[in-house]
Amino acid sequence: MNGATLSDAAKAMLSGGKGLLAMDESNGTCNRRFAEAGIAQTVEMRRAYRDLLVTTPGLGHYISGAILYDETIHQATADGTPFVKVLSDAGIMVGIKVDTGAKALPGHPGEKVTEGLDGLRERLRDYVGMGARFAKWRAVVDPAPQGAAGPSDACLRVNAHALARYAALCQEAGLVPIVEPEVLMDGDHTQAHCREITEAFLRHVFHELAMQGVLLEAMILKPNMVVAGLACSRQDTAEEVADATVRCLRRMVPAAVPGIAFLSGGQSAQAAAARLSAMHSRHGPDSVAPLPWLLSFSFGRALQQSALEVWSGKEENRQAAQSALLHRARSSCAAVRGEYDVSMDT
Ligand code: 13P
Repeated sequence: MNGATLSDAAKAMLSGGKGLLAMDESNGTCNRRFAEAGIAQTVEMRRAYRDLLVTTPGLGHYISGAILYDETIHQATADGTPFVKVLSDAGIMVGIKVDTGAKALPGHPGEKVTEGLDGLRERLRDYVGMGARFAKWRAVVDPAPQGAAGPSDACLRVNAHALARYAALCQEAGLVPIVEPEVLMDGDHTQAHCREITEAFLRHVFHELAMQGVLLEAMILKPNMVVAGLACSRQDTAEEVADATVRCLRRMVPAAVPGIAFLSGGQSAQAAAARLSAMHSRHGPDSVAPLPWLLSFSFGRALQQSALEVWSGKEENRQAAQSALLHRARSSCAAVRGEYDVSMDT
């Protein structure tokens, strides 16, 4: 695939006011969420849950792409239709998580590096053969590892390097890379601290992307919003989060990048929607300096959590769970138009 085609695909992923559904939890993460909701942690329950997500009627009105996990991309609905076909028939592009997880970074207690580059070229080729159009790699940074003032330079650099290696391999294979450098929300750090670390991480990431020849026009950035830690006593308003996030992204993300899709990262679904909506209402097309990129969502928990809780592993709750997912997808799209209001959730 040439660069122009790939860049069109990247734009299409976030156009029309739609966003992405992250349903690519690894088996470990999915099982942990199932355990919290009292659901049995089996292959069949994971399949049944993903079955209800991908067959949600009308999902394609709000969701342009779904990110799957390796187990899920091989699975099918109860009647044997591959998930990949169900999604494609609904007009939803198929994506695939290709990193193999964040592992302890040697010599740097409390810090992690995301692995998965070995054999990645071959795995990407296989996923393209299965119908994937884009991929995702998540790197995580603790803003205060083991109480330190901030992450080490080594942690930022190795993660940025791996993200760029992955992105270059994706583009070679004809896949749009979602580049996800995440500053975690765990801890009591302030919003100012989050902004400082997010800027530092993005600076490393775009340096590496340039060094390794990644075509910025043919990628999507998936960052965190600039928010205080979950345990911080001062939580900022949606407007404050919107302004700090937009200022940070304007400084760090070249205008050549077609789209930015936020992760939710442990925010409530309502907070994530309110903050994204404030970004659009305050910095949208009618503002003095409109945003240079499409700004949307690639939420996992903020889209799925209510559906998972409603489902609770019971077939009789399937339709109600699908309604919950659709409601969150609709609310998130309202946020992309700058029209989300918390009354939509009451
Ligand atoms: P959350 O929205 O739950 O943070 O998940 C997004 C994601 O894809 C994490 O890699």
